[in-house]
Amino acid sequence: MNQKASAVQIAPGDNSTAAFDIKRIRADFPILKQKVYGHPLVYLDNGASAQKPRPVIDAMSEAYETYYSNVHRGVHWTSQRSTEAFEASRGKVARFLNAASDNEIVFTRGATEAINLVAAAWGRKNLNAGDEVVISHMEHHSNIVPWQMLRAEKGIVLKVVPIDDDGNFLVDEYRKLLGPKTKLVAVTHVSNALGTVVPVEEVIRLAHQKGALVLLDGCQAVPHMAVDVQALNVDFYVFSGHKLYGPTGIGILWGREDLLNAMPPYQGGGDMISSVTFEKTTFKKAPHRFEAGTPAIVEAIGLGAAVDYVSAIGFDAISAHEHGVLQYATEKLSAVKGLRIIGRAREKAAIVSFVVDGIHAHDLGTIVDRAGVAVRVGHHCAQPVMERFGVAATARASFGLYNTRAEVDALADALDEARRFFGR
Ligand code: ALA
Repeated sequence: MNQKASAVQIAPGDNSTAAFDIKRIRADFPILKQKVYGHPLVYLDNGASAQKPRPVIDAMSEAYETYYSNVHRGVHWTSQRSTEAFEASRGKVARFLNAASDNEIVFTRGATEAINLVAAAWGRKNLNAGDEVVISHMEHHSNIVPWQMLRAEKGIVLKVVPIDDDGNFLVDEYRKLLGPKTKLVAVTHVSNALGTVVPVEEVIRLAHQKGALVLLDGCQAVPHMAVDVQALNVDFYVFSGHKLYGPTGIGILWGREDLLNAMPPYQGGGDMISSVTFEKTTFKKAPHRFEAGTPAIVEAIGLGAAVDYVSAIGFDAISAHEHGVLQYATEKLSAVKGLRIIGRAREKAAIVSFVVDGIHAHDLGTIVDRAGVAVRVGHHCAQPVMERFGVAATARASFGLYNTRAEVDALADALDEARRFFGR
């Protein structure tokens, strides 16, 4: 199947620019040399998790092989060296987001834990029955369920911003939902299921006019665009390391330092206390008050290396390249007979979700996989948005900085093959 298309990974449209050498970038990712069922791996599931470049793998191996130890606890050389590398990563992430201070960077297990942390620590303290939290119709479950859990516990009210048939966030409808009871707006920066880029500057401006705070889920944004939390004037920003070419098990909660220090701890344990007696415990300031127990040390170091990696390439170049691939994919896939793209928002990043008449998304995924093409199929942990479009599941191609137009061709060829197989 599909021998011709899968033999080539870089096509004429994939010409490198001075700022972006696609061949060199692809060579940085060892897994891209892999063959799957005899075909070169075409990895188009970056929205679920991105592959890791050599500098990330090497940074983690180096840590384990030469200086690994627990952090913040030892006087010995390995502990001091590990602590330095761990805290240096915090600084790298702070600069990556243009945070005002390293103290604003909390290491978490991922974006999911970061949102749960805000719901549990900030939400429990600051929200009361009848207070309103505004989310959008295209949130990932991780930005729906924690607020529903708080609703069950505290009686808060959840309001949902609708989207239109193209998947655009409806700013006018959003404006109508804001009122004196709105305490928090928690929305995605980029939709994982549709690729919609939410007009977050406007979202933040309108929320602040009502005195509400804003949390942005940046999982699908930070791999594709520069994010400056101070310029955005946002209050909380979260993302996961593994979608930014870093390891799993590590993520970031950024919060304004005054907000973080006014929040009670999330979990209790070692490393988050100033002193403990049986009568009374006092807590460290942020970020350490939110990092109970031994953290994901080497994962944090790997995330620091991932931040260095994308920063060295630069988001002007990454974004220009990915937009080219996205535009090409939109045109190419639109030409596949019976294929309907779900999500055609005015501004999109790196994601094409689609259905094909008469073929279940899971069957599509399985058939294109045999051609070495990895796409995600299912509801993408965003069931409400699937319901909004009247589909149970979509297939989703999500692009990273190493993807090429030739890989889009491989996907389109594999989809044609699937259509023929099902006689469509
Ligand atoms: N949230 C990830 C995705 O969109 C797993 O696929």
